[in-house]
Amino acid sequence: MKIMAANSNLPLARAIAGYLEMPLVDAGVRRFADEEIFVEIHENVRGEDVFVVQSTSYPANDNLMELLICIDALKRASARRITAVVPYFGYARQDRKPGPRTPISAKLVANLITEAGADRVLAVDLHAGQIQGFFDIPTDNLFGAPVMAADIQARYGDKDLMVVSPDVGGVVRARALAKRLDNAPLAIVDKRRDRPGESEVMNIIGDVSNRHCIMIDDIIDSGGTLCNAAQALLDQGAASVTAYITHGVLSGGAVARVNGSALKELVITDSIKPTDAAKDSDKVRILTIAPLIGEAVRRIADESSVSSLFD
Ligand code: R5P
Repeated sequence: MKIMAANSNLPLARAIAGYLEMPLVDAGVRRFADEEIFVEIHENVRGEDVFVVQSTSYPANDNLMELLICIDALKRASARRITAVVPYFGYARQDRKPGPRTPISAKLVANLITEAGADRVLAVDLHAGQIQGFFDIPTDNLFGAPVMAADIQARYGDKDLMVVSPDVGGVVRARALAKRLDNAPLAIVDKRRDRPGESEVMNIIGDVSNRHCIMIDDIIDSGGTLCNAAQALLDQGAASVTAYITHGVLSGGAVARVNGSALKELVITDSIKPTDAAKDSDKVRILTIAPLIGEAVRRIADESSVSSLFD
C-alpha cells in the first residue's frame, strides 16, 4: 500500500502518511510554463494499492485536474488499485438541477474521477450522502462527527448543550451529533436564501434560551449562514454559540466575517488546507482528521470494516 499526494493539502497528506508510518510516494506534481499540469512518479508502483490524497478545494478546477492527472499517471504505471482520497469533495453543492438548463456538476466530477481510472473513492462528510451514488465505484463517506464530539465533550461537556442545525437540510447530521453527545436536545434554524452567497434567518425551531448552542454543518463558505444564525440564536436567548464545521472553505472575507460575528468559536477540520487568515484568527480552531482518514485507509487496504469506525 502506498500514499501519494497532489498539492492541495500536503500537510494533511503528510499527517495521514505519518499516522500509517510510511513515506509519501516520491512524485512531482508540477506546472509547465503555460500552467499545464505534469505528474511524474519517481518510484515503482506496479501492482500497488495506491491512495491519492487531494481535496478539490480552491482553486477547485486546478486541484481537480491535478487529481485526475495523478490517477492517470498511476493507472499507466500499472498500480493494482487506485483510491481517490478526497477529504473535501468540491462541486458537491451542485448535486441537483436548481432550475431548467443547469448542470449537475457533482455528477460530472464523479464521472471524471471514475473515467480517469479511480477504483474507489474515500471522502469526508459529503454535502449530501446521495453523492455516493453518483459514483459507480465503491465510495466510503467518512463522518467528522466522532472527532467533533470528542472535542465538544472535552471543551463544553459540563455545559447545558443544544445541538443546532443551521438549516433544515442539515437535521440528519445534527441529530447524529446530538446522539453522540448523550442525546443533547436539537434546534433548527429555518433559513431562507434569496440569492447565492446571501442568507436570511427566518425562524428558530426549538427553545434555545440559556443553552450553549453547538451549530454543526458540512461547509462554511462565505460565513453568511453561520454568522446570521449565531446572531438569531443569541437574539432568542442562547447563552453562547459555537460552530463545528467539517470543511472550512472560507472564501473571500469569510474569516473577517467570523471574527466580527457573535460566534464564540468556529471549529473546522483540516480537510481543506487552512489559510493564513484562518490560522491567525483567534476565533478559528482547527481539528485534524488525519488519524480518521489514516485509519480508514488502513482498513480499506486490509479489507476490514470502515463503518465500524463510527460504532
Ligand atoms: C448549504 O447547504 C451548506 O450546508 C452550507 O450551509 C453553506 O454552503 C454555507 O455557505 P455560506 O457559508 O456561504 O453561507
